[in-house]
Amino acid sequence: MSSLTSLDPQSPQARAIYDLNNVAWVIFGLIFAAVTGAIIYSLRKYRWREGDAEPRQLAGNKKVEIIWTAVPFLIVLVLFILTARTMSIADPPAAPEPDLIVVGHQWWWEARYPKTGAIVANEIHLPVGRPFSVRLEATDVLHEFWVAELARKMTTVPGHPNHIWLQADKTGTYNGICSEFCGTQHAWMRFLLVAEAPEQFEAWQQTQLRPAPAPTDDLAAHGLALFQASSCINCHAINGTAATARVAPDLTHIASRRQLGAGIVENTPENLRRWLKDPQVVKPGVKMPNYNFTDEQLAQLGAYFKTLQ
Ligand code: CUA
Repeated sequence: MSSLTSLDPQSPQARAIYDLNNVAWVIFGLIFAAVTGAIIYSLRKYRWREGDAEPRQLAGNKKVEIIWTAVPFLIVLVLFILTARTMSIADPPAAPEPDLIVVGHQWWWEARYPKTGAIVANEIHLPVGRPFSVRLEATDVLHEFWVAELARKMTTVPGHPNHIWLQADKTGTYNGICSEFCGTQHAWMRFLLVAEAPEQFEAWQQTQLRPAPAPTDDLAAHGLALFQASSCINCHAINGTAATARVAPDLTHIASRRQLGAGIVENTPENLRRWLKDPQVVKPGVKMPNYNFTDEQLAQLGAYFKTLQ
């Protein structure tokens, strides 16, 4: 798994931002060297020595005033032009129809593929090597969508869609985070971005579109019955069942995901059991309450969720 760093760009946009960063550091380095050099030179050359007379006093040297106003102005102007140019590379106009709609929720990410209707949570796939037009929305507060290796950050604003382009040059799994404080579990509002070959991406999308199969064994069937009889269905959707709510993550293919709770734990049967037993222990503040399921009920739900590949 790759790290969360903007210093390892893996897309044209991220590279443009990285290059701008390098140019800025060169400019900062030159300024630092010039200022430090002038201070050291002055300290050595003009240091007061025993018996020296008071130096000549002067005020309001017009030439110097103009130089130290013009030079910083030019530096800022150059940085402004380079930044504007980078922004035009990093952010061409939005496509009329987005390939992907990402919705920020407290504290997880919903991803919808409007061209096929697939809806997933916290694990976003995209085909490698081509730009994906992404519309960003939010349901509650401001969040910020950031895959450091692939694109600029972008705030998700309730009622005001924003846009970015996402592209990955190499297949792999990239880490994404929410980078704007949005409440208790802001730190665990992570996601995985999986860039894969177009055929694999298509296959993944087809899998995500399939409704959940009817459970074949008794334990899992009890799990589904319990799920539908509980208030789980007030928030979650499982395609192919009575659960259609869009408040919390879609669970139709939860077993295919690598993580639970927007990145807080790996998706293992044991972690899922801990989550169902009391989500507040795993992720304090999460909007899902403790339902006080019995051990038997936890086994039923666990057996059912295992079928949701
Ligand atoms: Cu969402 Cu921070």
